[in-house]
Amino acid sequence: MPAIALIGAQWGDEGKGKATDLLGRRVDYVVKFNGGNNAGHTVVIGDEKYALHLLPSGILTPGVTPVIGNGVVIDPAVLFQELDGLAERGVDTSRLVVSANAHLIPSYNRTFDKVTERFLGKRKIGTTGRGIGPTYADKMSRVGIRVQDLFDEKILRQKVEGALEQKNQLFVKVYNRRAATVDEVTDELLASAERMRPLVADTSLVLGQALERGEVVLLEGGQATLLDVDHGTYPFVTSSNATAGGACTGAGIPPTAISRVIAIAKAYITRVGEGPFPTELFDADGERLRQVGHEFGTTTGRPRRCGWFDLPITRYAQRINGVTDFVLTKLDVLTGWERVPVCVAYEVDGERHDELPMTQTEFHHAVPVYEFLPGWREDVSGARTLADLPRGARAYVDYLQERAGAPISAIGVGPEREQTIVVNDLLS
Ligand code: GDP
Ligand code: IMO
Ligand code: MG
Repeated sequence: MPAIALIGAQWGDEGKGKATDLLGRRVDYVVKFNGGNNAGHTVVIGDEKYALHLLPSGILTPGVTPVIGNGVVIDPAVLFQELDGLAERGVDTSRLVVSANAHLIPSYNRTFDKVTERFLGKRKIGTTGRGIGPTYADKMSRVGIRVQDLFDEKILRQKVEGALEQKNQLFVKVYNRRAATVDEVTDELLASAERMRPLVADTSLVLGQALERGEVVLLEGGQATLLDVDHGTYPFVTSSNATAGGACTGAGIPPTAISRVIAIAKAYITRVGEGPFPTELFDADGERLRQVGHEFGTTTGRPRRCGWFDLPITRYAQRINGVTDFVLTKLDVLTGWERVPVCVAYEVDGERHDELPMTQTEFHHAVPVYEFLPGWREDVSGARTLADLPRGARAYVDYLQERAGAPISAIGVGPEREQTIVVNDLLS
């Protein structure tokens, strides 16, 4: 089995971390290919609960080589903090490999992230404030600073100088902030050079060689399909490609190496930050989903917006990513509803849309068309096979599967590793 991509099918926080951890024991490499410490993955192992942001979730599995790919943006201070935090808890992090081509998040980009949001006012994106967007913008504008620049002080200084020439104009003239000096930024970045050096490699080569040896590479996406900068609800997206295509560019492996695409979909939907969300609930049902599902952000602690499952979005995710398997998570959270609505289409300005409408304006106007499925009252958290599920829960899963475009190969019934129904082997 060559490479497997694992991505989010909705707006993030679907339970990608748990799914990665579940597969972890049977893979050789886990690669984070996009995003940075805007991600928040909670992994529960026995009594231990880990919150990962920048590191791939595979770091928790002994024997796995975790990789931070070229498509990631790295805040070095956060990287070391996370590594130290895990080391204190006895996790062996010594195998971590970091791409020399990954970009660094200088402190001025964290500042930019926050001040641009403030200036956007009502039109803000609701970012995580970690400097993600400005750092990807710098990458595309070719004024970014890469990990490898840490090892050539002269070049680093030149690049910082070049970047600040533009940035300081904005800082001072538009945002009324203090200009950053070349010295302070260079020193801040250089402070991480020594600790970074032994971690750094040509990760595309490392992964290419692993694939040639027949080892299993799991490509773990941060964020999700509808937060993808090309295919998501732009501009209310993150600034990277979180879809399966991004796994190739962000890890430096070819599309032909990917044999399976696993999409994680929650049994309902959540979203953090601004942007359209047709099935969003503003009533007691939404509050109930939030409370029962503990839907508060792992990264920023913000309450997540909650809504019902959306089939057009699921089919869209299937098509964009070439999903071969869905993992349906948090089915347990839906226990106890008399009936469970599922969005099967949208009505947009009086017209029915079975697929996502072409324009963002239409998507903002989309009103969900619901079908109502009978609920179930029985606790499902102990279910380990499909046969253990009560009739209503089983019917819900079957209903979604028939319409999602790919089989539901695993079902989450609780946060712990074991609280999973495996229907099809995801690594066969
Ligand atoms: P990620 O960003 O996609 O990795 O997801 P998050 O970790 O941000 O959010 C998912 C949350 O749901 C975490 O707190 C998980 O521990 C939890 N979780 C994952 N799968 C399940 C499940 O099947 N049932 C329940 N109740 N919780 C789950
Ligand atoms: P995981 O990997 C949910 C959202 C932010 C904001 C938008 C842009 O845990 O699923 P950014 O800081 O990336 O520029 O913010 O994207 N966002 C996420 N929402 N889960 C995430 O990651 C997210 N990462 C970014 O809330 O709306
Ligand atoms: Mg998350």
